[in-house]
Amino acid sequence: MASRVSLWFFPLVLSLILASSLVEISASSEEGESKEFVLTLDHSNFSDTVSKHNFIVVEFYAPWCGHCKKLAPEFEKAASILSSHDPPVVLAKVDANEDVNKELASEFDIKGFPTLKILRNGGKTVEEYKGPREADGIVAYLKKLSGPPSTEIKSVEDASSLIADKKIVVIGVFPEFSGEEFLNFTALAAKLRSDYDFGHTVDAKLLPRGESSVTGPTIRLFKPFDELFVDFQDFHVDALEKFVEESSVPIVTTFNNDPNNHPFVLKFFNSPNAKAMLFLNFSGELHDDFKSKYHDVAEQYRGKGISFLIGDLEASQGAFQYFGLKEDQVPLIVIQNSDGQKYLKPNLEPDHIAPWVKEYKDGNILPFRKSEPIPEVNNEPVKVVVADSLQDVVFNSGKNVLLEFYAPWCGHCKKLAPILDEVAVSFESDADVIIAKLDATANDIPSDTFDVKGYPTLYFKSASGNLSQYDGGRTKEDIIDFIQKNRDKTTHQDSEKDEL
Ligand SMILES: *[C@@H]1O[C@H](CO)[C@@H](O)[C@H](O)[C@H]1NC(C)=O
Ligand SMILES: *[C@@H]1O[C@H](CO)[C@@H](O)[C@H](O)[C@H]1NC(C)=O
Ligand SMILES: *[C@@H]1O[C@H](CO)[C@@H](O)[C@H](O)[C@H]1NC(C)=O
Ligand SMILES: *[C@@H]1O[C@H](CO)[C@@H](O)[C@H](O)[C@H]1NC(C)=O
Repeated sequence: MASRVSLWFFPLVLSLILASSLVEISASSEEGESKEFVLTLDHSNFSDTVSKHNFIVVEFYAPWCGHCKKLAPEFEKAASILSSHDPPVVLAKVDANEDVNKELASEFDIKGFPTLKILRNGGKTVEEYKGPREADGIVAYLKKLSGPPSTEIKSVEDASSLIADKKIVVIGVFPEFSGEEFLNFTALAAKLRSDYDFGHTVDAKLLPRGESSVTGPTIRLFKPFDELFVDFQDFHVDALEKFVEESSVPIVTTFNNDPNNHPFVLKFFNSPNAKAMLFLNFSGELHDDFKSKYHDVAEQYRGKGISFLIGDLEASQGAFQYFGLKEDQVPLIVIQNSDGQKYLKPNLEPDHIAPWVKEYKDGNILPFRKSEPIPEVNNEPVKVVVADSLQDVVFNSGKNVLLEFYAPWCGHCKKLAPILDEVAVSFESDADVIIAKLDATANDIPSDTFDVKGYPTLYFKSASGNLSQYDGGRTKEDIIDFIQKNRDKTTHQDSEKDEL
């Protein structure tokens, strides 16, 4: 359930974050026509090629995808620069749209384009590529990832260049670079290298901010917020990983236009915790008061299953749309729990935060449901259903209902619309059949009843209550045929006879 919730929000957050980096991609495509450095792979030679490389990056793309087209010249340029790197870093691409490559794409769990994967050890380990998308950025990122997972710190300069201000950096301090602790640290660094920077040293005095003496092997995690650094000495790999993941989350995550905050925002939305989000205008007078009171509350609930985020109105348009919030409700707090239920308090004052979160925690607040208003006039052939009328129209009506979940921007939905219209017209004289549609971007859908992963999604509920997803053909005939076969011959047939 939790993954569903974050998945839904994910594209939005991702697109908010990526938007900036994508815009920067220059149009200066210097496509060297002579030699292509990016290898073209397909199902026939993929494994063979990958098995020959210690480090290879594969782009799964589709020819029609705009972001892929933007990436292509940058990727090619990066490949040409990296071709002379030692050890070599090879870039490759697979057209995941080709039928013959679809199995390969699904093996790598490709859900969108472009998706880049880093394959190590002849393909034995696979990582997500989380780096930039312009040539210089790609080169720098891949040079780093193809090097050793942790950098040795030998001087104060080494330390200060690694421990830059806005990142999480994990440093291992060891009396010598051997032994089980060191090996476990290195294993952790190899595993988490794309999310954090790692360094190791024999001399803790080289590290900033930490004059305190260190005895024995120690992990010191530096962070640009809260207590600034934390030490840890349990070297079980799992314990280390848990320590790093937990200590690298701010007590309160900030969501604004500062890209340095974006990795923490992603972390926030990926967390299995309930998510509290306070939205307000960061330029408003009350910002400081809100911030400090919110921080106190977050500290109080640390480790108790709620994560906290504070969002600037300026950056939060997408979130407002997603959650069905309105600007005149600001300052507002919303909590989304792992079942996708939402709890909302609009027009909040700083002193309301603590008592309201307590009420939530005590189970005394009713969930909030995003819904368009129930339409006053609903006399088109295809009926409009909203979250607030779903129960009545679909479940309590005692009718056979075909319900479409759509999104206003979805092309397949637009294609289907006139067909559904015709289907609805053909049932117009049949009072026991309803054809309906629900805008799934403007209404919350009960996710325990409907599994809507893409648009359009169609469900059919028979008069007796049998609910099933419709995945048959999308022609008028297919749909009518399905409804006729699956509808219940209704209970009021008798009364119909009476009327005749
Ligand atoms: C893999 O096969 C495809 C299709 O035959 C070909 O175009 C491509 O050059 C091959 N790639 C390599 C690295 O051999
Ligand atoms: C290293 O990690 C392994 C696996 O978690 C664990 O069994 C071992 O005890 C760890 N070594 C030390 C010194 O903590
Ligand atoms: C936030 O507040 C500032 C100062 O009061 C104001 O100028 C700005 O328009 C506000 N921003 C939004 C998005 O309401
Ligand atoms: C409910 O619908 C499913 C799928 O169409 C069908 O297999 C099943 O027989 C139906 N059950 C009843 C009680 O009609």
